[in-house]
Amino acid sequence: MPDDIAELERYNRQLKRLVELSVTLNSTLDLNDLLQLITKTATELLACDGASILLYDERLEKLYFAASTGSDPKKLAEIPVPLDGSLAGTIFRTNTPIILNKVEQDPRHYAPSSDRVSMQIRTLVGVPMLIKERMIGVLEGVNKQGGEFVEQDQVILSVIASHAATAINNARLFREAEQRAQNLEALRNINDAVLNNLDLQLTLPQILIHVQARLGVDAADVLLLNKKTNRLIYASGLGFRTDALKNINLKLGQGNAGRVAKSRKMVSIPDLRSSNKSATIVRVKLFEGEGFVGYYAAPLIVKGEVMGVLEVFHRSPLDADHDWLAFFQVIADQTALAIDSATLFSELQLSNADLRHAYDATIEGWSHALDLRDKETEGHSQRVTEMTVKLALLFGVKIEDIVNIRRGSLLHDMGKIAVPDAVLLKPGKLTDDEWLQMRKHPQYAYEMLESIEYLKPALEIPYCHHEKWDGSGYPRGLKGEEIPLSARLFAVVDVWDALRNDRPYRKGWPKAMTISFIKEQSGIHFDPQVVEVFLRLVEDLP
Ligand code: C2E
Ligand code: SIN
Ligand code: SIN
Ligand code: FE
Ligand code: FE
Repeated sequence: MPDDIAELERYNRQLKRLVELSVTLNSTLDLNDLLQLITKTATELLACDGASILLYDERLEKLYFAASTGSDPKKLAEIPVPLDGSLAGTIFRTNTPIILNKVEQDPRHYAPSSDRVSMQIRTLVGVPMLIKERMIGVLEGVNKQGGEFVEQDQVILSVIASHAATAINNARLFREAEQRAQNLEALRNINDAVLNNLDLQLTLPQILIHVQARLGVDAADVLLLNKKTNRLIYASGLGFRTDALKNINLKLGQGNAGRVAKSRKMVSIPDLRSSNKSATIVRVKLFEGEGFVGYYAAPLIVKGEVMGVLEVFHRSPLDADHDWLAFFQVIADQTALAIDSATLFSELQLSNADLRHAYDATIEGWSHALDLRDKETEGHSQRVTEMTVKLALLFGVKIEDIVNIRRGSLLHDMGKIAVPDAVLLKPGKLTDDEWLQMRKHPQYAYEMLESIEYLKPALEIPYCHHEKWDGSGYPRGLKGEEIPLSARLFAVVDVWDALRNDRPYRKGWPKAMTISFIKEQSGIHFDPQVVEVFLRLVEDLP
């Protein structure tokens, strides 16, 4: 016990601070904040030059400076302290506090000659930190110039250390729980992405976003195994600065990725610079150009078959703990599943594709022939078709309805086949009688297409593309939403393209004039909501 009044007062102050500390510690769940707070408080209570927490790194089997005051903490953090031949290591190994007021004479002192940071100290007090009997590190206070430590400092430090150890444990548990929750969330998102989309070119980038965020890596990619050539080819990547990766073409067994695919085992290179595995790198250019030093790769396996490799890259060392590796494995499995479902889907589609292809070639041929006869500007039908599809997608039309919009657009003026040349190709205004014939072309289209089973769902546009929003169109005078949406979408595009181009009966209109005409006709000829979206679409057009 302290024996004079001044000492007693100091002691009381310290106790009060200690109580405050333990309250704050218990409410701090951020590990870094916590470590800072502990060293700061220790420095203050011991009135010393600096305090440090050294935590044990199981992989390196060394202690590292997790937080310090007094010296440059970042630089200290880069200096691992060995368990043998250091004071901190001695405290750790023997589970015994040390007070030493002549550090420089002690052979156990570890002070590597480094120009980066000075580890020269004169006096030191250090205590072990334990969580439930398990040693996690050392808390120490140091003086660089002298300033002796007494036994009471060691007592204080031990109290801080025991509070700190509990708080560190809580923070670690919390961080793990939080990370698990976030990992679960990421997995759920990946599942959704896979289920909602069977196009790998869309799913893989979404998966890689989660890989990058949750695994905390700079870059990630998926290589797919081509079953015919047995080679790994780039499929999707994220976070790369160069294009070096895209030309990748590895044989099974070649390079690390090839090794992963062949052996079906994960490859881990936490730090290339200190790894004997650098010899296995075949994509040296990629690694050098990008500055990668950390690399992990996992095989993508479904139903016992290797589909490819998931690779992650980091520009600083990548130390993976148990949770990280477990999550990497899970995410690789998810990716493999995504690839499997997408492959199944596209094979299914392929079996129908030949047939569909034959039909669509026919339609395109007809459509082209129609344009030719109409003396329409070359490619009118093709242009309005592409534009209508874009507009429909922008408008939120379901993907499965697009194919009919496409066919309907290509065939929109099919009915003009029944209109005589004299009328169709007339250079001037139409007479009433001619106009009557011309206005029948949607009805003709209906009659021709109705009997073709697979074109029935594509009838809306040919039949209804001259209906107007206000009910003044033909052939049936439909009004507002009575007009099928596909026809409302198409009508704007058709008039746009008709006006922008020369016709036998007039010259093409300039863009600005066409836009103001379409705006003017919003709510009269056209569905106002369609016009709104359409105007966004043509903004970037010439
Ligand atoms: P199209 O040439 O493909 O024109 C499609 C639609 O674009 C027209 O439907 C109309 O809504 C709009 N449009 C085209 N040109 C103009 C124009 O100069 N001014 C305005 N305000 N709108 C225009 P619409 O009117 O039902 O015509 C259907 C089809 O009848 C036209 O298809 C074209 O083949 C023919 N047609 C229309 N007017 C004439 C004409 O004066 N002479 C000739 N020879 N044919 C005409
Ligand atoms: C040592 O443990 O010998 C050095 C640790 C320190 O300088 O804090
Ligand atoms: C790989 O290619 O397998 C990764 C690193 C390398 O070997 O290039
Ligand atoms: Fe028409
Ligand atoms: Fe047209």
